[in-house]
Amino acid sequence: MARHMTEPIKEVMDEILAKPSTRRGVCIWLTGMSSAGKTTTAEALAELLTASGRQVTLLDGDLVRSLLSKGLGYSKEDRDANIRRIGFVAREIVRHDGAVICAAVSPYQEIRNEIRQDIGSDNFVEVFVNTPLEVCEARDRKGLYARARRGEISGLTGIDDPYEPPQHPDITLDTVTHTAAENARLILDYLRQCGFL
Ligand code: ADX
Repeated sequence: MARHMTEPIKEVMDEILAKPSTRRGVCIWLTGMSSAGKTTTAEALAELLTASGRQVTLLDGDLVRSLLSKGLGYSKEDRDANIRRIGFVAREIVRHDGAVICAAVSPYQEIRNEIRQDIGSDNFVEVFVNTPLEVCEARDRKGLYARARRGEISGLTGIDDPYEPPQHPDITLDTVTHTAAENARLILDYLRQCGFL
């Protein structure tokens, strides 16, 4: 085979085969309710990845909603649109062998599956930030649960809007018994096992 290849093609082939695993694209998708600990875990993971020599982009729900998804609300349609936008950017990053962490409530299984398919299952790591509602509500970082309980806002995930837990997450995190740093380490170990580092 190699005998019939022109020299430039062989060179490109050699380069692809020799490509280090650190350059494989990966999307780490954190899903969970508000105040579950997605952002804190994502930031800790970003630090670890950077320290291990991988550049990483963090697409966090709150930030995305102030820029890329500005104007979108919390109906199922708007949430799906938000997730598709995040998924689109993530796919581009992965396509160019980058690493991206997405942290969004992303309460609907169907759209999470759609993004996994779009990006490619082998390059997609679904992380379920499995914090019980009572704990999220006790933390209430942004005071949203209190506002929902007072009837000031509606459609809050977990209160009067659905959250569909992942059926087959690659990783499930416990943020009650483990710190964000420990959970980030867990994800990093998984990424290493999968050959992304
Ligand atoms: S998603 O459902 O579309 O994935 P996303 O993660 O981008 O949600 O944004 C959720 C953030 O918006 C929460 O962290 C919270 O700060 C804020 N927020 C405001 N209203 C709601 C609501 N009704 N449900 C969930 N999050 C809300």
